[in-house]
Amino acid sequence: MITRRGAAWWSRAIRRGTGIIVIDVGGTVVGYATFGPNRARNLVQRGEIYEIYMRPEYQGVGLGTRLFLAARRELLRHGFDSAVVWALAENEGACRFYKNAGGRKVARGSERFGDTVLAKVAFAFARG
Ligand SMILES: CC(C)(COP(=O)(O)OP(=O)(O)OC[C@H]1O[C@@H](n2cnc3c(N)ncnc32)[C@H](O)[C@@H]1OP(=O)(O)O)[C@@H](O)C(=O)NCCC(=O)NCCS
Repeated sequence: MITRRGAAWWSRAIRRGTGIIVIDVGGTVVGYATFGPNRARNLVQRGEIYEIYMRPEYQGVGLGTRLFLAARRELLRHGFDSAVVWALAENEGACRFYKNAGGRKVARGSERFGDTVLAKVAFAFARG
């Protein structure tokens, strides 16, 4: 995902002021989180974590939790005291991860990938 996004995508994200945290292991980026203002006007949560991704070989050892908490802290530092994160409903690992992190399901939606439409779920996190 890190390389699939490509240099242009990363440079646009940086220009727009999107928050980015990366996890570096021995000079290699093995995971990242992006975050900023909530894009969904119909949700009350002020912040949003847009993406969290860990390379498969680094998943399940606690680094995703650290990324998530660091992103929440950064959002809080910028005044975003609540946040939302969307996961594909079929992504059981991610849904479990956000639920374990204290997320509460607050909305459903769908996302089109070419000809396929997939259900997605929003998890909300309040301060504290
Ligand atoms: C979801 C993700 C960010 C979680 O990060 P992580 O470092 O694997 O998670 P942690 O080790 O901090 O926490 C583990 C918890 O996350 C969940 N989890 C999600 N994906 C997992 C995986 N591939 N391996 C192990 N646990 C996973 C489990 O519920 C686990 O809780 P448990 O220990 O009580 O079973 C990471 O697995 C990932 O990048 N997955 C692929 C991309 C993705 O789905 N991103 C989210 C899109 S919204």
